[in-house]
Amino acid sequence: MQTVNHLEMLRNTVSELREGGKTIALVPTMGALHEGHLTLMREAAKLADHVAVSIFVNPTQFGPGEDLDAYPRQLAEDSAMLESEGVALLWAPSVQEMYPAGFASNITVSGVSSGFCGADRPGHFDGVATVVCKLFHQVLPDIACFGEKDWQQLAVIRQIARDLDLTRPFASDIIGVPTVREPDGLAMSSRNRYLDEESRAAAATLPREMREAIARIEDGQHVGRTLAALEDALLGAGFSSVDYADLGDADSLELLEKLGDRKGRLLVAARIGGTRLIDNMPVGAR
Ligand code: PAJ
Repeated sequence: MQTVNHLEMLRNTVSELREGGKTIALVPTMGALHEGHLTLMREAAKLADHVAVSIFVNPTQFGPGEDLDAYPRQLAEDSAMLESEGVALLWAPSVQEMYPAGFASNITVSGVSSGFCGADRPGHFDGVATVVCKLFHQVLPDIACFGEKDWQQLAVIRQIARDLDLTRPFASDIIGVPTVREPDGLAMSSRNRYLDEESRAAAATLPREMREAIARIEDGQHVGRTLAALEDALLGAGFSSVDYADLGDADSLELLEKLGDRKGRLLVAARIGGTRLIDNMPVGAR
């Protein structure tokens, strides 16, 4: 695996990897890698000749008071994991390399980025869209893999891929990979390590109650009342607050009061032990 920290060297390495018409799949991450990330890399390896991984804790997608400073950084450990996955290229730029003095551009996506996490974390998806756009231009991948764990992020990235011509042939080359979960159902996340034992045990209530709510909605029960009951169940189980627990259209993320024959998605963000957890699952029309 070649580890690269500077753009000029990245360009040379990418050209070498491309020799003989070889293809590249990009997996953008912020490091602190777990099985969820590694699953993306394994999917990427099936779809392209080489896998390139970026590790960059992107400051512009963290809001004031969020966990930018506390976010786990473990490049040596991550790098060893990538080696054993057969990753060809690790792109690990510094903040200075990504955002040199005078950096002044920003990509704002309307529509899909406005509700859910977009409403709770102003500027978050601008930060994500801008850094992902830069990563595409830097690595010039044929495809890129993202987790369904961050469903709204995936929708935002599909939107910029389409709008800004990031991939060929356009958005079809953004690959969504299903969420990888712990044995008790909790979605894997670099932030799970913030949870103490008690909060970690209670956190598994989130996917369990989401499944319960989905069964009720698919059974025709009232959406609003079912979601209110889901919130109550989470608060009763030890969550301190629920940022949102809503049913959206799976693609447009438009809020749905009724499922009908739509392909829906239940999206939840809730806080436990000072940590904000997000999860999402399909509803109906599967
Ligand atoms: P990060 O949280 O490190 O996640 C990197 C990628 O791994 C994302 O596509 C995310 O959806 C995916 N992922 C995380 N947990 C997963 C799980 N349990 N199952 C499947 N996939 C999972 O998301 C980001 O970084 C950043 O916002 C980034 C896109 C890199 C831009 O900075």
